[in-house]
Amino acid sequence: MADPERRQPLLLDEDLLAEDQDDETYSDELQSYRTSLSSTVTDYKWTHGRRFHSYREGTDAFPSLEKVVGNDLSPIQPSWVPPNVEFEVDDVESEWPERPPFDFIHSRYMCGSISDWPKFLRQAYSQTKVGGWAEFQDFHLVNYSEDGTLKEGNNVNKFYELLREACEKINRPVTVGVNLKKWAEDAGFENIEHKVFRLPLGTWPRDPRMKEIGAFNMLQFLEGLEAFSIATFTQVLGWSYEEVQVFLALVRKDAKNRRVHMIHDFHVVYGQRENLVKVTCIPPKIPAMANPKIPTIQLNDGTAFPIIGYGTGTAWFKRGDSPAVNRALVETVKTAVKLGYNHLDGAEGYGTEPELGQAIEESGVSRDELFVTTKVGASVRDIPAAIDASLKKLKLDYVDLFLIHNPFWANTEEELQEAWAAVEKVKASGKARSIGVSNFLKSHLETILKTAKVIPSVNQIEFHPYLQHGDLVPFQESKGIKTVSYGGLIPITRATGGPLDALLSTLAKKYGVNESEILLRWSLERKYVVITTSSKELRLASYLQALTFELTPKEVEEISHLGQQKHYRAFWAGNFASDDRS
Ligand SMILES: NC(=O)c1ccc[n+]([C@@H]2O[C@H](COP(=O)([O-])OP(=O)(O)OC[C@H]3O[C@@H](n4cnc5c(N)ncnc54)[C@H](OP(=O)(O)O)[C@@H]3O)[C@@H](O)[C@H]2O)c1
Repeated sequence: MADPERRQPLLLDEDLLAEDQDDETYSDELQSYRTSLSSTVTDYKWTHGRRFHSYREGTDAFPSLEKVVGNDLSPIQPSWVPPNVEFEVDDVESEWPERPPFDFIHSRYMCGSISDWPKFLRQAYSQTKVGGWAEFQDFHLVNYSEDGTLKEGNNVNKFYELLREACEKINRPVTVGVNLKKWAEDAGFENIEHKVFRLPLGTWPRDPRMKEIGAFNMLQFLEGLEAFSIATFTQVLGWSYEEVQVFLALVRKDAKNRRVHMIHDFHVVYGQRENLVKVTCIPPKIPAMANPKIPTIQLNDGTAFPIIGYGTGTAWFKRGDSPAVNRALVETVKTAVKLGYNHLDGAEGYGTEPELGQAIEESGVSRDELFVTTKVGASVRDIPAAIDASLKKLKLDYVDLFLIHNPFWANTEEELQEAWAAVEKVKASGKARSIGVSNFLKSHLETILKTAKVIPSVNQIEFHPYLQHGDLVPFQESKGIKTVSYGGLIPITRATGGPLDALLSTLAKKYGVNESEILLRWSLERKYVVITTSSKELRLASYLQALTFELTPKEVEEISHLGQQKHYRAFWAGNFASDDRS
């Protein structure tokens, strides 16, 4: 908590004290700070007849930011925001939706809103990119003075005490700042910095910067008083509205008493998500691997299914229904195809079917040499329309595999069975060569098997050593349903620092590959099909080395055994208790 500002107590502006100003003068003084702030914001600059902002003019530190996502519990966001800003209205305490990880996550002023802070930071960690950063800024609402001028009975102090009491009663503490660092460490962040800033209340400090901070802090305190207290004091502490108003008048009066030098602290903690497993990306033996023939397994309907697939979700996921084609994805899919990937995994929900279709068209590879999967998500209640829409976006006449993306939308067994019956019709129509499901648990499979005319060919599930799913896999395999694994690299991407790290590193050295290939090979040794992805050609080429060596049965067993010691579910986690391994 090294903070140079804390070394010396704040010095007082003696001149101001000597003047013994009254309440009205103080209000005028604060008003002048407010005016100075708004004039810097609205001091527009006019060039060639157009108006430009001048507040922090030319200081956009991140001009190439692709997208900024803001989150709020209420739909109160302005519409006049830059085109790369979008808002989501959601509760950050709920499970965060599946999406690509962020380069930077920033949270501020959340005290009084969050009940499970450790979980909040863990969720942030799980959606921070490897190498990315997250920052948490918050108050620690305890009032103090450095010179003993704050005495018992002070109404500002009482206000803080009551606010703390109310917020603790509803399990949303306002004393969070001092804990942020520990929560960040526990969540897994590295390279953590913790800075503490003193916020004086009022213009009493001598130092001009602290005086200004004190003025703004006073303004926000006075203006926020009612917002902080009306609901909490009446609904939680049982006060009447009138009682609160009378008390707030006393609080305002004590807040403006220049002879009492109150301070509270503001904490800033930031940390990085490091890749704990230091993966040395070994250049693949490209000449030997150029255009490898990816082996296939046979599905229960006789279709040949390539055992490694390239996915267009996760890192590529597009938000909203943006019509703009992401050329980077088109080029990467073409690169994947050039490297030998002939199994391409898409979904309605990824928003990337147009890119996949464009890449297939531009790849020059004939349609029958590619195996294309898509999944129905949001349109699951109208499957005939969904497959037509997907085929249109993919610019294809048929897909090789059509999946129901997840079972969690269905409220009744019948709904799931009807959806499966509709998927069977898609196969019968020739619009999909094979059909299957994704993210189904044993109970969901049992439900559709009761009425199915066609047994699903696959169940595509998150599968890796830290999520091995109890008896799901033996069950589905016994029914002839192949296991397709996604998220196979999670032990070295999102769930690093686990019991497998050392073994993966040893095996990577032994076979002259990266940890990623060891993980992919582990799934292949278990006869599963793996779907993976990357935005990098080198890595995509590297993954294919998983086809060039074999793990011994003992090594496979060792990975399985060590993996059982940790549990991590990265996708659809909102549908499961945190310790649910089904
Ligand atoms: N059915 C479903 O519900 C579902 C859910 C999730 C995914 N999927 C499918 O599965 C595909 C694969 O996604 P996934 O998340 O499961 O992929 P994954 O194979 O677990 O991980 C791939 C990601 O790991 C990163 N990566 C690989 N090696 C790394 C290393 N050594 N250090 C740091 N990062 C590394 C890659 O990043 P770079 O881009 O930086 O190389 C890439 O983004 C998706 O695209 C989608 O098609 C399906």
